[in-house]
Amino acid sequence: MDLKLTDKVAVITGAGQGVGREIAKVLAAEGAQVVVNDLYGERAEAVAKEITETGGKALGIQADITRLDEVKGLMEKTVQAFGPVDILVNNAGVPDPIRRGEVARTHFIDSKPSDWKLQIDLNLYGWLNCVYSVIHSMVERNYGKILSIISEAGRVGEPNLMVYSGAKAGVLGFTKALAQEVAERHAKRPRHHTDDQPFDQELELRSMKGPSPDWIPRTPRKTTNGWPKC
Ligand SMILES: NC(=O)c1ccc[n+]([C@@H]2O[C@H](COP(=O)([O-])OP(=O)(O)OC[C@H]3O[C@@H](n4cnc5c(N)ncnc54)[C@H](O)[C@@H]3O)[C@@H](O)[C@H]2O)c1
Repeated sequence: MDLKLTDKVAVITGAGQGVGREIAKVLAAEGAQVVVNDLYGERAEAVAKEITETGGKALGIQADITRLDEVKGLMEKTVQAFGPVDILVNNAGVPDPIRRGEVARTHFIDSKPSDWKLQIDLNLYGWLNCVYSVIHSMVERNYGKILSIISEAGRVGEPNLMVYSGAKAGVLGFTKALAQEVAERHAKRPRHHTDDQPFDQELELRSMKGPSPDWIPRTPRKTTNGWPKC
């Protein structure tokens, strides 16, 4: 398999075990320079070591992705070690106290408000922190891939995991909206710069900084009861 990832810089969150670890190994085997992030530094370093011992390029970096300052540090260390981030995999999504069984999965009616925060902080703020810390560079460079691991729970809902289900559905909403925003900017970028159509720096910058003044939001679709669809 050649996914054309040679020397691409990939950051995978929560890659110290489980799904993220496997993603990191596959990306490294495809030639990517991989940053293995985890809440636990020793886990991140162990996976990075596993990759480098088999000939791949990897670095383990501890950071709590629920904290924007730590995520900024993670991305800065990545740029210093390998260069700007080409691929972000938002994988961390199971809060540590839940994974360790300290906080039980329960029906919402039996849940505690302090437990809701764990899911919202990790799945929603974690996503926002990570994407916000790479998106400016990706738009400037006109290159970047962002992959987010959700769950069937986010699509259909899962009992005992109501807040997790909602948070995963939120990630899907974030992703769809971001894709449209970035596509909007990308679509306005001149595709070819020839002698007849020279590089237009003003248009180029405007297209990167936000929707142009003539941008018109799409008309909301109506439901059968007449209310706009959200
Ligand atoms: N395992 C499944 O059956 C399953 C099913 C559907 C979706 N998923 C999704 O796949 C992803 C990975 O799941 P998994 O089962 O491999 O998880 P896991 O709990 O086995 O491992 C995830 C890693 O994330 C790390 N982590 C937790 N909080 C963190 C934080 N704040 N900052 C950085 N790292 C943090 C943990 O230390 C852990 O090493 C999640 O998004 C999960 O929702 C998993």
